Amino acid sequence: MNGLLEIKKRILDDIVSSGSYTETEEKRIKYLSKKGEITLLFGQIKDIEPENRKEFGQFVNDLRTEAFDLINSLKEKYSETSAETIDLTLPGKLPGSGSYHPLNMIRDDLKKIFRKMGFSVATGPEVETEYYIFDALNMPSWHPARKTTDSLFLSEGKLLRTETSSVQIRTMEKGKPPFRIIAPGRVYRNEKENATHTAMFSQCEGLYVNRGVSFSELKGTLKEFFKILYGKDTVIRFRPHYFPFTEPSAEVDVSCFKCKGKGCSLCKRSGWLELGGCGMVHPKLLENVGIDSEEFTGFAFGLGIERLAMLKYGVNDIRDFTENDLRFLDQF
Ligand code: DAH
Repeated sequence: MNGLLEIKKRILDDIVSSGSYTETEEKRIKYLSKKGEITLLFGQIKDIEPENRKEFGQFVNDLRTEAFDLINSLKEKYSETSAETIDLTLPGKLPGSGSYHPLNMIRDDLKKIFRKMGFSVATGPEVETEYYIFDALNMPSWHPARKTTDSLFLSEGKLLRTETSSVQIRTMEKGKPPFRIIAPGRVYRNEKENATHTAMFSQCEGLYVNRGVSFSELKGTLKEFFKILYGKDTVIRFRPHYFPFTEPSAEVDVSCFKCKGKGCSLCKRSGWLELGGCGMVHPKLLENVGIDSEEFTGFAFGLGIERLAMLKYGVNDIRDFTENDLRFLDQF
């Protein structure tokens, strides 16, 4: 009997240790099937002394019932928990979806707004020659604005374009006026990176050349553009400035759309945000591409796309645009 008690303990402990429905079923086969250990114990009755047979038979019978009940209750437990883990009423998991990059959104806004005003989109290469970056833009070799410190030079006299203004020349030399284009694109400068400067950023150039184009048309165009981008109460102002490729030249400021010109942290208490350069196309540029500067005039402007986006979306660090941190990108 001692031996039998040990067998019983071993079998029941083994069944209890089953960790899943399948494992419990494996134990049923191991102990209760035709060739199972408990079933085979019944076959041993004939080897037991007759006076002990009844007790032996009773013991094995009880063991079988106990094992049977235990297995059934374990199976019930496991099928219940597996049913619990599949809750068919839960909403499904949606696959993650991408979003537009804030710079692409601003660039698309720019294109949409200027297209409505009759501008088409022009492009030019990012690897340029000194002719298109300096000479044709009225910066001959002696010109102080031709400072080489922030240009990134490549071999064979090539350089990465420092401004999209080169597209003005490339556009005008390809056809005849009128020209009315914008040219959004990347530019590169040898800059130490910080919260407001990166070596690669984007600009949007604008150019309109025709007979009798005036500064007031430039004003009207930029005013309309900023009203659509930043709201209809937006006011703009021009400050005299110098650019080699325009005369007269100006920097354009936009009334701060956050404080409506009262002064806040965004506009550094000035009420104005600096957004770009502009002016009347210098006659030298027109002559450089064979256009009669007596007959035609034009205006041009250049806007920083990152700056437009930083202000519109409240981004404080320009490096966020290129770091590809999903926590940043997911907000748009
Ligand atoms: N190219 C200038 C810059 O990178 C921006 C600019 C100023 C473009 C005046 C223009 C312009 O077309 O007329 O700072």
